[in-house]
Amino acid sequence: MSIKYDQKKKIFHLKNKEISYVIKVLKNEQLGHLYWGKKIEKAERMDRYSSSQLRPYEAYADEDDTGFILENIAREYPSFGQSDFREPAYQIEAENGSIISDLKYQEHQIYAGKKKLNGLPAVYVEQKEEAESLDITLYDEALDLEVTLTYTIFRDYPIITRSAHFNNKGEQKINLKKVLSISVDFENRDLELLQLSGAWGRERDIIRRPLEQGITIIDSKRGGSSHQQNPFAALVEPETDEYSGEAYGFSLVYSANFIAQAERNHYGKTRMTMGINPFNFNWLLEKGQSFQTPEVVLNYSDQGLNKMSHNYHQLYRSRLARGKYRDQERPVLINNWEGTYFDFDTDKILKMAEAAAEVDIELFVLDDGWFGERNDDTSSLGDWYVNEDKLPEGLGYLAEEINKLGMDFGLWFEPEMISPDSDLYREHPEWAIQVEDRQSTLSRQQLILDLSRRKVQEYIIERVSTILTKANISYVKWDMNRPMTEFGSLELEADHQRELNHRYVLGLYRVLEEITSRFPEILFESCAGGGGRFDPGMLYYMPQTWTSDDTDAVERLKIQYGTSMVYPASAMGAHVSAVPNHQVERSTSLKMRYDVASFGNLGYELDITELNKEEIKAVKRQVNNYKEIRSLVQFGDFYRLKSPFESNFAAWSYVGEDKEEILVGFYQVLASPNPREQKLRLKGLDADQEYKELESGEIYGGDELMNYGIKVPHLKGDFSSVVWRFKKYIPSK
Ligand code: DGJ
Repeated sequence: MSIKYDQKKKIFHLKNKEISYVIKVLKNEQLGHLYWGKKIEKAERMDRYSSSQLRPYEAYADEDDTGFILENIAREYPSFGQSDFREPAYQIEAENGSIISDLKYQEHQIYAGKKKLNGLPAVYVEQKEEAESLDITLYDEALDLEVTLTYTIFRDYPIITRSAHFNNKGEQKINLKKVLSISVDFENRDLELLQLSGAWGRERDIIRRPLEQGITIIDSKRGGSSHQQNPFAALVEPETDEYSGEAYGFSLVYSANFIAQAERNHYGKTRMTMGINPFNFNWLLEKGQSFQTPEVVLNYSDQGLNKMSHNYHQLYRSRLARGKYRDQERPVLINNWEGTYFDFDTDKILKMAEAAAEVDIELFVLDDGWFGERNDDTSSLGDWYVNEDKLPEGLGYLAEEINKLGMDFGLWFEPEMISPDSDLYREHPEWAIQVEDRQSTLSRQQLILDLSRRKVQEYIIERVSTILTKANISYVKWDMNRPMTEFGSLELEADHQRELNHRYVLGLYRVLEEITSRFPEILFESCAGGGGRFDPGMLYYMPQTWTSDDTDAVERLKIQYGTSMVYPASAMGAHVSAVPNHQVERSTSLKMRYDVASFGNLGYELDITELNKEEIKAVKRQVNNYKEIRSLVQFGDFYRLKSPFESNFAAWSYVGEDKEEILVGFYQVLASPNPREQKLRLKGLDADQEYKELESGEIYGGDELMNYGIKVPHLKGDFSSVVWRFKKYIPSK
């Protein structure tokens, strides 16, 4: 890995064993983009790609060179207003009302390692040798504004991270109207946009479409990253599939309003931009102040989508997630939510815990309803004091009793919220997000606390910490259950109101940093009505996320498959729940439910005391089976083999790091009479090795499993599945 600057040609070349990224200081001193893709050994001759030719009806940025048309040149962090009519990466309003800016190269610095981003989550390194970074400082003389673009290239991954930092050195106040993290220009080529979109209960469907002339936007205006659009996009070639072709991934490490935008212009060139959503955003930057954008993780694969996912999985598992649980196997849990909803007391919980202990479950999670006067979703958010009607002996007692059963105890919180019917609201109505003289819109009968306020941050830190100190709590589920409306704070001046969403998330990150570092032994799982905030920003603080409120096994095939495009299994909470399923009323077998959930972080979410003897025995077998396979699931390489978005079947597998262990799942949605035979070709095995399938004892060659495949038995009935486990086979002599 290296970052080289060719002073004569003014070319930066970031390179590792797989990729190159090339930047050039253009003749107008702005930054141009030359290349991003598969490694190119020498970049010094690539400046021949930094000019264009005279075009009719175009403006040129150099009076002596009619070919210097910014609109036809690839730029690195483009502005608007000087003859490039594509969407810019940033837009600044000066005190005179102008939005013209001209950022010219000033200086740069190359250094080993990677710096932290102030107040924001980001990918990190543990040793300086793991990465090299480049800060390029640009300067606008008229505004007296400095912008530093930071790039990091990793030694072990075909990945580059980027962010931008604005520093107002002048006397005037400037309005940052748009401050995206990245812009990447692609030459004229046919590209398709791949996105992860959905809704509550059906998050992260894989959607793919060709880019035509015009603008395609994926964004969130909902306050959080959202169920509807994940802060991720990929540009792929029309022929790119899971295992071949080029894919360029863009993943934003951020949890609030975002935008990812692809613009294809009249020359067929595509500009991809990503960052904080400029809609409803403005940041007033006063003299001496600075602004840091979040980070985008750029990921290149020339071996299709699955390799792009592997890159993200490995990086996010080991250099985004932090803390004790990053590299540790996650416990099998039981959560009482779908089992009891709000209707429980100490006795009921302990009965469930006893039954869970019998089947070797390791962690009992008490969900919503344990605090204030909360017996339904109409009250008490903010009153983080135990509900003594339900739990008269308190949480400490409950935790102790559960610990005596040999299980850990975990607790649900929704700390960012406030119910209008709460003591907290009665005392501090001004702490809710709101706009003066406007009615606040309710969602799930609740409002959002204004985390841009320091006092609110302190309140949350104090309340959550006190509860976590008083009882022996090993796990926290951090929930968040509504979108943001009436974006406004009673504490902010008028010209800072549109900073609210970003200030909110900075406040949230501060709270999370404080709480997770105060309690390093606790496993934190984030949640937002399921997967409404399944993003890299949250994963920096909490190594796992509740993937979706939809626990139906068939629905989960798509949800987990789509989620795997970016996020590793170690990040995905996956539970076996009761049937008929509470979200879709579908009944699937206990086997199918387990066969799907066991490809993520396994949990159970049902009233276990209602299972019959046979079911209890089966669950015990499942839990112990999962304990055998979980290190493979949580830390192995994931292969998507058959897409549930494309057929009646789905298949996926895990291959251990040393390729000695494999787990394969194959699923049928609806049965058909006298069906065709199915065969599944595996991926990522050692072709020269033999493998034993554990249930049948059959021996297969790695090459055989990859080239011929394995025959799928005739699956009977709707919603059926088969799981194979293989281990390296060495014949005894
Ligand atoms: C939404 C979560 O996604 C559910 O799992 C559950 O915790 C409820 N909130 C509780 O209100």
